[in-house]
Amino acid sequence: MDLKELIVKRRSIRKYDMTPLEKRTLDDVADIIEQTAPLIPGSGRFGFRVIGHDEFFENTKGMFRIAAPHYIVFFGDGTDDAYRNIGFVGELVVLKLTDLGLGTCWLGGATSKEMIDDNSYAISIAFGKPLEEFRRNRDEAKRRALNEIAEGFDDEQRSILEYVRLAPSAVNYQPWYFRCEKGSIHVFRTKTGGIMSALAKSIRTMQKMDIGIALAHFTVSRFMYTRMDIDSGKMTYEGTLLFGNGDRN
Ligand SMILES: Cc1cc2nc3c(=O)[nH]c(=O)nc-3n(C[C@H](O)[C@H](O)[C@H](O)COP(=O)(O)O)c2cc1C
Repeated sequence: MDLKELIVKRRSIRKYDMTPLEKRTLDDVADIIEQTAPLIPGSGRFGFRVIGHDEFFENTKGMFRIAAPHYIVFFGDGTDDAYRNIGFVGELVVLKLTDLGLGTCWLGGATSKEMIDDNSYAISIAFGKPLEEFRRNRDEAKRRALNEIAEGFDDEQRSILEYVRLAPSAVNYQPWYFRCEKGSIHVFRTKTGGIMSALAKSIRTMQKMDIGIALAHFTVSRFMYTRMDIDSGKMTYEGTLLFGNGDRN
């Protein structure tokens, strides 16, 4: 299946067949993660482990944990770039697992109990054989309208942003804004207010991963990620995507 179809098909799966997957499949998952190029190769180091249900529940706490046979556990060096990279690579892996017929769910609600290797725990992704349906069409996704999250787009940019719009985000907040110009899109992270600010630190950390996740959906097209000197106003500037002569993917 091509990436666009996988983006439409993917949704968070919260019910799993608890039968462990074959070791070969788990090895494949680890290979897929290792072979996926990060968004920012020179910075934001991160690592991962693939663990089973019991190890995950013993080593994490928190609400909204989901019972699944397996989890990818990401840890990073604590920098914003590590969170961006984890979101980006994690989501490309999620889409590849969708292609294998596996369900996934990002789990920001789980936190480490002095976990897994050290305290650089970032986030986990549950995965396994789904006991729920995938998404059948894009209208099933609850998302903000395109003109709420982007401005200045032409038809070609619109057709890319329609897939970016479907990116998953923590509590479905969709904390992104895209300012389009000819041949480029400037990416911003919106500020969280209201009830969300009560959850402040953890939600802000997750929203850095949300940005990486949205950028993963831009790979329906070819782009180059760079950073410029851009006025971000009330938002946080997250980088610029250059199209046309980009050489990513
Ligand atoms: C960074 C991140 C953290 C998330 N944390 C949780 C979580 O702890 N528990 C949960 O059930 N879903 C979690 N989700 C799933 C979102 O609620 C879900 O992606 C969003 O509501 C959009 O729905 P969809 O994934 O079905 O398209 C998380 C998603 C992201 C991207």
